[in-house]
Amino acid sequence: MNTIVTGLQWGDEGKGKIVDYLTESADVVVRGQGGNNAGHTVIARGTKYVLHLLPSGILWDGKTNIIGNGVVVDPVGLVAEIERVEGQGVSITPEKLLISDRAHVVLPLHKELDAAREAALGDRKIGTTKRGIGPAYADKINRCGLRVADLLDETYFREMVGHRTADANEVLAKFGLPTFDATEQADEVLAAFARLRPHVSNTIPVLHQAWKDGKTILFEGAQGTLLDIDFGTYPFVTSSNTTSGGSCTGTGLPPTAIDQVIGVCKAYTTRVGSGPFPSADEGLSQYLHDLGREFGATTGRARGCGWLDAVLLRHGCMVNGTTGLAVTNVDGLDNYETLRICTGYEIDGTVHELPPADRHAWDRAKAVYEELPGWQQDTTACTSYEQLPEKAKAYLDRLSDLCGTPVKFVGVGPDRVQTLVV
Ligand code: IMP
Repeated sequence: MNTIVTGLQWGDEGKGKIVDYLTESADVVVRGQGGNNAGHTVIARGTKYVLHLLPSGILWDGKTNIIGNGVVVDPVGLVAEIERVEGQGVSITPEKLLISDRAHVVLPLHKELDAAREAALGDRKIGTTKRGIGPAYADKINRCGLRVADLLDETYFREMVGHRTADANEVLAKFGLPTFDATEQADEVLAAFARLRPHVSNTIPVLHQAWKDGKTILFEGAQGTLLDIDFGTYPFVTSSNTTSGGSCTGTGLPPTAIDQVIGVCKAYTTRVGSGPFPSADEGLSQYLHDLGREFGATTGRARGCGWLDAVLLRHGCMVNGTTGLAVTNVDGLDNYETLRICTGYEIDGTVHELPPADRHAWDRAKAVYEELPGWQQDTTACTSYEQLPEKAKAYLDRLSDLCGTPVKFVGVGPDRVQTLVV
């Protein structure tokens, strides 16, 4: 059974935990898009791991983990992450971690260009993670990017970094910003790449062999549907296809290899960075922050919080072809008296069931809510779906009805054992 795990909101849905749970029965875990803008928190054996580029299966022995062609790899960041995770007692061998030779490389200059562009945008900024993701994907699409395969040939890599640096410097000079030294750029990346080299290969036949052999493949999505370059709240999105289709183009496995798509969402909604958020709610944000919840794993930023938005989830289930929902952080709502679910957007007097494309319509969209009674009971000790309070089950049933997709998993806490199967 090959499964895509995809986020249905603006990232941070708790995908790492669901992936970690599904990894137990997986042979291969593969990432197909994004880069170290992602931050997946997994708590296993009482230890907290924060993963950015490494697939979550890395925490298990005997699994193959693949960073696919659709990912943008920052070699310096990846080596730092490998060293940190190895320092927590996890071995990362070339058999356990494979990096596609077709993946694009994030250079130090991409990170600076990301920051410079954000600064230039002023109050129109995207609120990026400043990990160089946008500029690296832009180079890929502009056909001037460097791929991991290019790093294998040092002379060629240095020459290409020279060209790319000269171009970047022209832009930076225009903005009166500091320029780069091409040799320093190349030295830094090549030094990091020495640790990664044994992990690099053509990962496409490895994945196809696993498929042919009937192995279980898990596709670990990063970010979420509303950050998708096509289906998200453009331009406040990331620069890749975060939806299920990106798992195919980003790995080389075709749609016919996919058996199920699990869409992960929180029991409420959160967002970091700029952009529309119709169901945002100050009171709920304050409540969750006071509980010490909802601070970003990558940047530490406090996330904005709001009510569950079924308009967005309906859209997400459509474009991902979601076959089942995994609803996480149900325990976050344990003590709330009355809960709300956004069922439509009122825009200029008409209620819409799906989100608009027009960026100005978002500014006028008012959430239409229905209210449900909270369960006001601790769910964190529940070990089966049946043990959940009846009102919590009613809340989940309503969500499932609104999206036309069954709930398959429920998260009631950060630990591996706090994932209930429906
Ligand atoms: P970028 O991916 O760094 O270019 O950032 C673009 C947008 O995506 C910003 O709003 C970021 O906050 C958001 N973003 C990127 N990665 C994640 C993630 O893993 N979780 C949540 N938001 C993310």
